[in-house]
Amino acid sequence: EESKKITLTEDPSLPKAIKSKLAHLTELRSKRIRVSGWVHRLRDQKDIIFLVVRDGTGYLQTVLSGTVASTYDALTLTLESSVEVVGTLQAVPEGKQAPGGHELIVDYWRVLGAAPGAEDAFTNRVNEKSDPHIQADLRHLVLRGETASSVLRLRAYLLSAFRESMTSYDILEVTPPCLVQTQVEGGATLFTLDYYGQPAFLTQSSQLYLETVLPSLGDVFCVQESFRAENSHTRRHLSEFTHLEAELAFITFDDLMDNIENIICKTVDILLTNPSSAAIIKTLNPKFEAPARPFMRISYVEAIAWLNEHKIKRPEEDAEGNPVKDESGQIKMVEHKVGDDIAEAAERQMTDIIGKPVFLHGFPAELKSFYMKKIPGTSFTESCDLLMPNVGEIVGGSMRIADMTELLVAYKREGIDPEPYYWFTDQRKYGTCEHGGYGLGVERFLAWLADRYTVRECSLYPRWPGRATP
Ligand code: 4AD
Repeated sequence: EESKKITLTEDPSLPKAIKSKLAHLTELRSKRIRVSGWVHRLRDQKDIIFLVVRDGTGYLQTVLSGTVASTYDALTLTLESSVEVVGTLQAVPEGKQAPGGHELIVDYWRVLGAAPGAEDAFTNRVNEKSDPHIQADLRHLVLRGETASSVLRLRAYLLSAFRESMTSYDILEVTPPCLVQTQVEGGATLFTLDYYGQPAFLTQSSQLYLETVLPSLGDVFCVQESFRAENSHTRRHLSEFTHLEAELAFITFDDLMDNIENIICKTVDILLTNPSSAAIIKTLNPKFEAPARPFMRISYVEAIAWLNEHKIKRPEEDAEGNPVKDESGQIKMVEHKVGDDIAEAAERQMTDIIGKPVFLHGFPAELKSFYMKKIPGTSFTESCDLLMPNVGEIVGGSMRIADMTELLVAYKREGIDPEPYYWFTDQRKYGTCEHGGYGLGVERFLAWLADRYTVRECSLYPRWPGRATP
């Protein structure tokens, strides 16, 4: 009853409070400050309330005691309410711990937006053990958690480190379109839509566009969403993913793999040098170390032999590509042979045994996309996948067919109508060059870096078959 009567007012005789974000408090020790955020943690201890406030840039322990802890708002405060708190910032007493090593002794505060309590309380809705489907529906609330937000913060550092690395190698950023009328990685995984009465697709890869601008801008890269209508419910497949792609002119296949390695190692270096990103990596993936160089390189043919030496088999498939079962209903497992696709399961076992980054190169042309250059005189291609422990393939790249006649034959072989590709063909017609490039899945890279179980944790609002909400 008593508490209902107390209304707090800010004491005008106190020094003017400095408004700040939580990331910049160290220089404001012993000052009176004003911060706003959300109630991240709440602990009531006799007459003192400890609130940890979060504003997205950091966390701050605040201490409410006396009158400020006795108001109706104080007694009914709930987690995730938004608040403004004002007070004096102090170093925490010897032997105590708090984020940033300081705490705010509050002299005035107010609730800006109360969050519900009881059955609708935040912690009742976002329960870490709840079913993944509910967790996915509540992604917008899950994101407020420390782990989910740290992963996304690291993602921001990662994107900026990638850009810095690319720039340091004179690779220029461009922004290709998402709405396209050509396929890159096979018709089977295209999302089709009606575009003013014409068929169009969501892009699978920006590669073809990057190729066309080599003559005007030199080496280029982009960070663009790619879309794949793949009915894959795996740890590493999304229907929409962020695709870091680069395209380089006048290079050899070895130069291409060197560039992939250089960009990845430089990016990791930048992240480990910056104390903010290094701290997040340390928390999320304490065992992480920059990978040793040079990365291992093994050819596709060697990899097939390696799989057989290690008794890693593949399911036998019938003519339609369905697994063949034996009399007891078990899927029949057989040895790998040259020409087989190395499926996700086998690839994962391989990377886990090797335990470090490995380039697989020289895949058979039949397994790969129409634009890939052949190793002269063979039916293998100058293509590579970079595999990482715990995730598998994070990069796919290749040298491209530079010769126009050869490209026209490749369209035909794949049953692609060359007409809509006239602009891509023109790149070979007007001063062709040996060139190649690659695409890196940002969510997969982040899953490797931050040791996440699935790429779904590495996307802000992940999309997979059946899921486009929130
Ligand atoms: O191997 P992919 O399909 O290669 C290309 O799209 C080339 N056109 C890229 C290029 O050369 N410019 O895809 C490249 C990478 C993969 O290694 C993987 O990391 C990621 O993109 N990726 C996916 N990530 C999440 N979900 C999916 N469904 C993905 N498909 C590919």
